[in-house]
Amino acid sequence: MTPAARLQAAIEVLDEVIASVRDDGPPADAIVTRYFKHRRYAGSKDRRAVRELVFRGIRHTAERPENGRAAMIGLAKSEPELWDLFGQPRGPEPLSDHDTCAESGSVPAWLVPELSPLVTPDEWPALLERAPLDLRVNIAKSSRDELLEQFADAAPTPISPWGIRLPPGSRIDDHPAFASGLFEVQDEGSQLIALSCGAENRERIIDLCAGAGGKSLALAAAASDATIIATDSNRARLSGLRPRAERAGAVIETRLLNPPNELEELADWRTMADIVLVDAPCSGSGTWRRNPEGRWRLTPQRLDQLTAAQERLLDIAAALVRPGGRLVYAVCSLLSREGAGQIERFRQRHSSWISEDTAIAAGRADGAGRLLTPAHRTDGFFVARLRRPC
Ligand SMILES: C[S@@+](CC[C@H](N)C(=O)[O-])C[C@H]1O[C@@H](n2cnc3c(N)ncnc32)[C@H](O)[C@@H]1O
Repeated sequence: MTPAARLQAAIEVLDEVIASVRDDGPPADAIVTRYFKHRRYAGSKDRRAVRELVFRGIRHTAERPENGRAAMIGLAKSEPELWDLFGQPRGPEPLSDHDTCAESGSVPAWLVPELSPLVTPDEWPALLERAPLDLRVNIAKSSRDELLEQFADAAPTPISPWGIRLPPGSRIDDHPAFASGLFEVQDEGSQLIALSCGAENRERIIDLCAGAGGKSLALAAAASDATIIATDSNRARLSGLRPRAERAGAVIETRLLNPPNELEELADWRTMADIVLVDAPCSGSGTWRRNPEGRWRLTPQRLDQLTAAQERLLDIAAALVRPGGRLVYAVCSLLSREGAGQIERFRQRHSSWISEDTAIAAGRADGAGRLLTPAHRTDGFFVARLRRPC
């Protein structure tokens, strides 16, 4: 494919991404793969180049653009070599006075007042930088030093003692250490959330919003004699945990929850848990560097729904924690309403609960919790730990 044809392909993919955002469809990555499924003429270099262009276009554009062409015209303003490709054979139509151009930016205007004031504008570009690939060593089976020896270009993660870091886009799923359960792919930020639980052997732990169990697995490795139950309301996600637990050699019970009956379904755990981790559904604003079109998906209504769900899940979790036990709340969000604000409101409803140090030696204190951003080279997240009085 010529550079002009690649630009035309990127515009077509972006049109599909924009439609998918509107219809709550699949993520951009899946759309790129789907686009090339029926275009066998495109070689691997073409696919990589088009994918790169698509993601550069998304990262460059804060608000959902009118169409792919407007996004690429916006990008061409800062990448002049793209400008000359409009009107070339197999490329996009020549530029005309009727064209619209998407504004460049990192944070959608309506979200700026929602963003934690700790995230200053000079940090915003880092929210969209490509993320490295972090692995978490399964400390029940191996050690970080052993894992580092297996990857020539790896370095220890700066904050988490369990992590190693590889360059973005490294391929690891065919590595023999993966099949043997010696590591999992997990961003350093997620490792730190698991670390904040301070899980100990023989404790009883609920990972209430476990998804496919990334944090349950980290907890099981850290406290191999703990009893861990992973729950979620999404069957497909939760079913992803079993093969991972088998690989890791971890014993984790799973339980599918059916809202609004979560508390009844967990009646046997009422006031019994030493730790309840609530890794709550959220805006994902801390993970835009992996999923930059997440900025285009979020709406004020969706944010309202998410904050209401977080509040509900926190109250469910509080009912499960034993006296003296702890509740750990985390969101991969940089919005105050979902993080420090959510915990402030929790403490108004549960005034006797005591906030504790999260034991993370990085980031910034944010209300009763801690905030890390991609400026710390992790996904952005907020975490807080609260103890129920005895
Ligand atoms: C941020 S994700 C969790 C990610 C996961 N802990 C991990 O480490 O990969 C939030 C999860 O909350 C789940 N969820 C949403 N509503 C829920 C509910 N009412 N009860 C339990 N889980 C819920 C979603 O299905 C989603 O998997």
